[in-house]
Amino acid sequence: MSRTAVVTGAARGIGAAVAARLATDGYAVALVDLDAGAAQAAAEQIVAAGGRARGFGADVADEQAVARVVEEITAELGAPTVLVNNAGIIRDNLLFRMSVEDWDAVMGVHLRGAFLMSRACQGAMREAGWGRIVNLSSTSALGNRGQANYSAAKAGLQGLTKTLAIELGRFGVTVNAIAPGFIATDMVRATAERMGVGFEEFCAGAAEQIPVGRVGQPEDVAAVASFLAGEGSGYVSGQVIYVAGGPKA
Ligand code: NAI
Repeated sequence: MSRTAVVTGAARGIGAAVAARLATDGYAVALVDLDAGAAQAAAEQIVAAGGRARGFGADVADEQAVARVVEEITAELGAPTVLVNNAGIIRDNLLFRMSVEDWDAVMGVHLRGAFLMSRACQGAMREAGWGRIVNLSSTSALGNRGQANYSAAKAGLQGLTKTLAIELGRFGVTVNAIAPGFIATDMVRATAERMGVGFEEFCAGAAEQIPVGRVGQPEDVAAVASFLAGEGSGYVSGQVIYVAGGPKA
């Protein structure tokens, strides 16, 4: 069986941590990102640590780019049997200020991107009779002020997860979602900047509201992705696992 894993949005943040973790788990990892140079740099760090990895540039919302990159990955690392749909963007605004462009951009990366990547990778998984798809949802799927687009996309990913679990289960493919709460990454840093709050201060304020008393790190998500991508999770499918330091956002 091919031990190739694809992680989208893997140049930094949660995706980079998931890629590094899957490499430690023994997968050859394809790091796909809009930013090909940064994806390759992240891959080189994995290689320096003894793993097998390569960076690839692609926009996951672009049908042709997705087809091309999955072909490249198959040729260079082997047919992928693990896919982590992690690429994401935020374009926050209250409804009355939200532009159609910001709605479409968020839907495009999260939902269309996960659909296109899953469709492009499922053939290899069915052929192998084994596969794992992990989608990055969010606690924002439960509703979050200023995130009508993002919240709808992240809730949509939960529906996609459950439906693909039903369709692909018979081929040995499980499909699950991870819904992180506050994870300290550049995405959150950008939100803090927009609100005019320092990153440390923003994290400290958030930590006070989180039952485990700290904010999440990319590695907290990577540990759960590792479980869901592994052999031992074969009877877990169509689930949404909240990784939020507590039961709710
Ligand atoms: P990030 O902004 O640090 O990294 C996202 C990566 O995705 C970037 O490298 C970016 O270049 C890439 N990307 C964006 N659009 C792309 C496209 N069209 N095609 C390919 N790559 C693209 O974000 P972070 O925080 O690491 O988040 C990763 C995922 O986790 C996202 O789906 C995000 O929505 C989700 N998430 C993050 C949370 C957090 O608190 N940081 C909480 C809940 C969910």
